Amino acid sequence: MKTILTTGSNGLLGQKLTEKILAEDRVKLIATSKGANRYPTENGYDYAEMDILNPDQVKSVIEKYKPDAIIHTAAMTNVDTAEANKELCHQLNVDAVQTLLSLCEERDIQLIHLSTDFVFDGADGPYREEDAVNPVSYYGESKVLAEEMLTSSNANWTILRTILVYGITNDTSRSNIVLWAKGALEKGLPINVVNDQWRMPTLAEDLAEACLLAVEKNARGIYHVSGKDYMSIADLVRKVADYWGLDHTIISEISSDSLNQSAKRPIKTGFVLDKTIKDLDYKPHSFEEGLKMVDEQMRKVAS
Ligand SMILES: NC(=O)c1ccc[n+]([C@@H]2O[C@H](COP(=O)([O-])OP(=O)(O)OC[C@H]3O[C@@H](n4cnc5c(N)ncnc54)[C@H](OP(=O)(O)O)[C@@H]3O)[C@@H](O)[C@H]2O)c1
Repeated sequence: MKTILTTGSNGLLGQKLTEKILAEDRVKLIATSKGANRYPTENGYDYAEMDILNPDQVKSVIEKYKPDAIIHTAAMTNVDTAEANKELCHQLNVDAVQTLLSLCEERDIQLIHLSTDFVFDGADGPYREEDAVNPVSYYGESKVLAEEMLTSSNANWTILRTILVYGITNDTSRSNIVLWAKGALEKGLPINVVNDQWRMPTLAEDLAEACLLAVEKNARGIYHVSGKDYMSIADLVRKVADYWGLDHTIISEISSDSLNQSAKRPIKTGFVLDKTIKDLDYKPHSFEEGLKMVDEQMRKVAS
């Protein structure tokens, strides 16, 4: 059985990976994140504190546990924070990847690196893996820089690009579009949503499964991993309202220009999933099925 080390295990994907690995017993897990472990159980895996900005700590954790593969989920993930703090974004999303990449190359460890649809400019989605990148934000640029380091290295690397991930976890530091929309609409709070950005939202469980498939199949290269349904953000929020029977009339459609966000967003992303479906045997859920899973998990937590 392979040993996998995850970074950023307190985050959305990190927690889903822990959940899946504990439930399915396909690999041995070493979960790592900055600070204390926020996953609710400590049984069935090891947890080590590992700040990806601390190369000595990263090296000693990797030397201690000798993983076969590292799934690198930790990153600066807030697009506006990245725009406002480019230096820290570069340290987290580029320099820390170099640290991991060098250690993986020296020790023949597979590095599964998480990237984003924001590497594209959004003029011509949905995108294939080989389409030209052209980021419109610093977050996207930092992810392109990291991808370039991997693709030009001799390490055993895999890049999984993903889009707008949703799902529920325990005590994560951030929400996501589905939880945000459901929460606001349930409280009767009017919300503004953009109707000129198109995405293929990704169920966190599907992304976690793709990460494990990439390890099991020792996949090398770039893979696009998202849900299979393509929609505008306004449609996405309306689907959330429909699923939970919430009031549509408090959803206002606006254009991206009126939002005044510090980072620019690509207009039309979305992925062509053919390569990932064929090579990794990836089977994404529909958005409706994803909402059903989120709903069931929420009911379980509440009961
Ligand atoms: N979520 C999306 O919609 C989306 C879309 C495209 C691509 N991606 C990519 O997918 C990956 C996973 O995203 P996610 O949604 O799981 O992100 P997330 O929920 O924000 O999780 C990232 C985790 O990284 C941890 N972290 C931050 N700085 C760290 C450090 N210095 N050392 C160690 N850990 C650190 C964070 O810790 P704290 O919780 O303690 O802050 C957090 O738990 C990222 O690479 C992201 O760029 C995500």
